Amino acid sequence: MIRASVALLATLTALVLAIGISQEGPTTVAEEFEWVEAGADLYARTCAGCHGPNGGGVVGAFPPLAGNALELFERDGGRELLIATVLHGLRGPITVGDATYDGVMPAWQHLSDTDLAAILNHVVWTLGDAQPPADQVVTPSEVSSHREDDLDPSGVWALRNAVLGLEVDAPAPAGATVVYNDDTGYYTLVQAERGEALYHQHCADCHGPTLRGGLHAPGITNLAFFRKWGGQSFDALFSFIATRMPLGVEGGLNPTAYVDIAAFWLSQHNYPAGEQPLVGDLSQLAQIIIERR
Ligand code: HEC
Ligand code: HEC
Repeated sequence: MIRASVALLATLTALVLAIGISQEGPTTVAEEFEWVEAGADLYARTCAGCHGPNGGGVVGAFPPLAGNALELFERDGGRELLIATVLHGLRGPITVGDATYDGVMPAWQHLSDTDLAAILNHVVWTLGDAQPPADQVVTPSEVSSHREDDLDPSGVWALRNAVLGLEVDAPAPAGATVVYNDDTGYYTLVQAERGEALYHQHCADCHGPTLRGGLHAPGITNLAFFRKWGGQSFDALFSFIATRMPLGVEGGLNPTAYVDIAAFWLSQHNYPAGEQPLVGDLSQLAQIIIERR
C-alpha cells in the first residue's frame, strides 16, 4: 500500500516536472482535490502578508478573511464573487464588521487554477473554522471557468455590492443634469454615512473629529474657513480635497471616497440629503454654493 502510494507520487512528480506546470509544490489535481496543505502553504506565502497569518486582517487597511469569507461564500452568488475577487482584484470602499476599507486588492491571475482553488478553500473553510460539504469545495475547473470573465477590480466591487444587496449609487449617466438645491437635496444619507467613516479614517487625525481643526491643520467648518471659501462654488473645494488631501497621500483615496467625504461635509453644514447622489463631476458640483448655513 505504502509502496503503491510512493509509486503513484513518483509518477505524479515526474508528470509535473515533465509538463512543468508547478515548480513549487504538491498542488497537482488528484481525483479528489487535495487542497488542505497546499492551500495553507500558498496562503501563508501569498496572502498572509496583508490579511494576517490567521486571516484576522488589519483594521482599516486589510479586511479580515476568517469568517468573513465563509459568510460571503454562503450568500447567493458569493461563491462566484470570491472566485472573481482573487482572479480580478477588488477596488472600492467596503465595510466589514465595524471597519471600512478603501484599498486596492491586486488580481492574482498569474497563479494557476489549482493554486487559486486551494487558496480559496483555505480562506473559506480552514480560516472560517468549518468543514466543507464535499460538493462545496471550490475546484480548479471552476476557477478556470471564471478566468475570462470581463471584470476589473471596480467591476468586482459592484458585484460585491450586488451580492450583499447594498444600495450603490449608480453613477449619473454622462451628460445627464442633476439638479442640486434645497428641495431636491444634495447627496444621499448612505453617502454621508460612508463619508463620515472615511473622514474619521483619513482626515480626522489632522482636522479633528468635529472638523474644527487641530495642531496640524486648519478647521474646515469655522469662520476663518468660510471667510476663505464662502461664496465660491463647491467644485473648487471638491477638487482641492480630491487633489491635495489627505496631506501626505494627496489624491490617494478612491474617487468615490472623495465624493462620500464631500457628502459628509455637506451633511455637517445643513445642506439637506435627498434621493439623488452627489456626483464627482465638477460641472455638476458648480451648482452648489459654499455658504455658512
Ligand atoms: C497587498 C495586500 C494584499 C494581499 C497580498 C492580498 N490582499 Fe486580499 N485584499 C486586500 C485589500 C486592501 C482588500 C480590500 C480592497 C477594498 O477595500 O476594496 C482585500 C480584499 C480581499 C477580499 C475581499 C473581502 C471582502 O470582504 O469582500 C478577499 C476574499 C481577499 N482579499 C482575499 C485575498 C487572498 C486569497 C489573497 C492571497 C492570494 C489576498 N487577498 C492577498 C489586500 C491584499
Ligand atoms: C496629515 C494631516 C492632514 C490630513 C490627514 C488631511 N489634511 Fe486637510 N489640510 C491639512 C493642512 C496642513 C492644511 C492646510 C494647508 C493647505 O491648505 O495645503 C489642510 C487643508 C485642508 C482644507 C482647506 C482648508 C482651508 O482653510 O483652506 C480642506 C478642505 C481639507 N484640508 C480637507 C481635508 C480632508 C477632507 C481630508 C481627508 C480626506 C484631509 N484634509 C486630510 C492637513 C491634513
